Amino acid sequence: MKGIILAGGLGKRLYPLTKITNKHLLPIYDKPMIYYPLQTLVDAGIKDILVVTGGNHAGEFLRLLGNGGDFGLKHINYTYQEGEGGIAEALKLAEHFSDGQKIVVMLGDNIIEKSIKKQVERFQSQKEGARILLKKVNDPGRFGVAEIRNKKVISIEEKPKRPKSDYVVTGIYMYDKRVFDIVKKLKPSGRGELEITDVNNAYIQMRLMTYDILDGWWTDSGTFDSLLRANMLVANKNLKGLK
Ligand code: G1P
Repeated sequence: MKGIILAGGLGKRLYPLTKITNKHLLPIYDKPMIYYPLQTLVDAGIKDILVVTGGNHAGEFLRLLGNGGDFGLKHINYTYQEGEGGIAEALKLAEHFSDGQKIVVMLGDNIIEKSIKKQVERFQSQKEGARILLKKVNDPGRFGVAEIRNKKVISIEEKPKRPKSDYVVTGIYMYDKRVFDIVKKLKPSGRGELEITDVNNAYIQMRLMTYDILDGWWTDSGTFDSLLRANMLVANKNLKGLK
């Protein structure tokens, strides 16, 4: 199975922090943001990884990560997203790299406490389709919200005004090779992007979507408040180890 980290975009919600750097290079406690999703994939046993970046500071990823030696890797693959087309648009760039294999996609601003190894293994033994990781939160309206019935996700709504549940779709997605046919057929949403939620709903309609509930804490870090929260969660985790 191959891994893809999406680390493009202009990080407009964090302006002016992102005026002179890419969002995913900002610090989360003692490391740049991108280190966390990269470590999560490596810890899940995924060694063949593509970083999709974009914007004005893409070259810095090479200087920071190089060939992935800090993570025990021999090589990292990179590609560049032109413009601001959204998560699903960025995913298109991974078709060649994925080479027909299953993929685990992680958003570069998602930080989690625990390992996803067992969920990745479950997807490995899943014959086909997709698998998403859900988390219960207090502010579901900021995310893709899952409607669950009889232990199945029956729909996902992106940033709904009236969320149908407290379970949101985290930025860790597992797909079979169908995903690339799905993204080619997508139309831009109201915010002018190809939405990952539309990709997930396509799998739901084909009855090929499964899910797990993520263990431990989870946060994104793309807004001032969530960036601060991510820093505090990681700092607390590290400090706990010292007690
Ligand atoms: C994106 C997805 C959303 C998901 C979230 C997880 O939101 O569109 O469905 O719940 O990532 O971090 P965005 O960060 O683009 O607002």
